[in-house]
Amino acid sequence: MTKKIIKGGTIATATDIFEGDILIEGEKIVQIGKDLLDTEAEIIDATGKYVFPGGIDPHTHLDMPFNNTVTDDDWESGTIAAAFGGTTTILDFALTAGETKLSTAVEKWHEKATGKAVIDYGFHLMVTDLNEETEKELPLLLEKEGITSIKVFMAYAKEFQASDNTLFKAFKAGKETGAVVMVHCENGSVIDELVEAAKRAGNTAPIYHALTRPPELEGEATKRAIELAHVAGAKLYVVHVTCKEAVDEIVKAREKGYDVYGETCPPYLTLDQSLLAQPGFEGAKYVWSPPLRPKSHQEPLWNALKAKQLQTIGSDQCSFSFNGKKQLGLNDFSKIPNGGPFIEDRFTVLYSEGVTKGRISINDFVDAVSTSAAKIFGLFPQKGTIAIGSDADIVIFDPNVKRIISAETHHMNVDYNAFEGMEVTGEPVSVLLRGEFIVKDKEFVGTIGGGKYIKRPLKKKAASTLEAAVSN
Ligand code: URP
Ligand code: ZN
Ligand code: ZN
Ligand code: ZN
Repeated sequence: MTKKIIKGGTIATATDIFEGDILIEGEKIVQIGKDLLDTEAEIIDATGKYVFPGGIDPHTHLDMPFNNTVTDDDWESGTIAAAFGGTTTILDFALTAGETKLSTAVEKWHEKATGKAVIDYGFHLMVTDLNEETEKELPLLLEKEGITSIKVFMAYAKEFQASDNTLFKAFKAGKETGAVVMVHCENGSVIDELVEAAKRAGNTAPIYHALTRPPELEGEATKRAIELAHVAGAKLYVVHVTCKEAVDEIVKAREKGYDVYGETCPPYLTLDQSLLAQPGFEGAKYVWSPPLRPKSHQEPLWNALKAKQLQTIGSDQCSFSFNGKKQLGLNDFSKIPNGGPFIEDRFTVLYSEGVTKGRISINDFVDAVSTSAAKIFGLFPQKGTIAIGSDADIVIFDPNVKRIISAETHHMNVDYNAFEGMEVTGEPVSVLLRGEFIVKDKEFVGTIGGGKYIKRPLKKKAASTLEAAVSN
């Protein structure tokens, strides 16, 4: 078995930070300590660098049909970009919209990923409509595929939006199987009314995307999801939280002891709604849902992240080129495909804006980009930490280098970057996946198709105390 020692770096996990070496044997971390020696091992010098667990991105959409088109990054370009950005595992949404059998969707997603992914991955199972058949199929499919998360949309009235009935059935299935239920919380029906009214008034520019999806409608839907999940006894994970209204509902619920978790994304922490109001069609680059908010929402999001009221950072990678697919909405904001390219910069933007600017600690950073997602979605401790027995998914990170984010240098298959021109501090230099380099000195050296599908064990909520202690 090949051996490697990562030497002289500063190892940072969600709880600790220390100088030390890591011995890797095959795919696993086998020893952590000072001045490790092994004559057979390849030595990797990490002096002056941070050594982090590989990033876990719990929210991606690769090769996804959406808004009458399909995303520009597939499982090859998307996971290569993720690898450059320090992410070694993604959880992507297998869409069941339009399928009569849920398993068809999962098979399709396996086909998209197999032979292409360069990092490890799992799926969340998205449901739009639960009928008698699919309700029966759901728990069996989760068990068979090792899927511990169900996704429901309360938005996109014409495409993905589930009824409250389906939402509640999903929560009941979550309670019964132990799966966490992830919800896109926006009131899609009311948004639809506001969109139609804007169009009747001749308001077609990109800014109307934001103006027809006000934060109140995210807060209202968040509150509704929280109460329905609570009544059903399910664990709820609110995806892409963007605003104070939604944060407040999550904090209130958690203070009552509800089993509620929240995710936010780098653009909501760093960019604001004024970007959609730029002259011409430029604002289309920033059209995704929920939309960017006025700057005043950023501080509540940072505070919630620091206080661990929000636990994770997803990219919500869902890329459409500006000169390509975004043009579908040139004369009508409601036809601009929703989504942006973030898979590559998720990790570094959080480090740079969060840690170097003193908003969160280095441990909070690791927790948010890796460990929390591993715990919530059942990947821990195989992934999400640096520990003996864990997969050797490791990022060697230079905390001092400064660079400017740009589409000219990124690896995503899109012609723009939403963070274009942002100066960031810190960069992944080398990345290992299960003990093998996939990025070495900023060059891609991985294997197309080398990523592995990770089955996750379902854990019933009423786990024994010992089980619960081990999994937390
Ligand atoms: O605009 C977005 N976020 N597109 C991807 C689908 C979703 O809502 O997550
Ligand atoms: Zn969403
Ligand atoms: Zn109650
Ligand atoms: Zn999404």
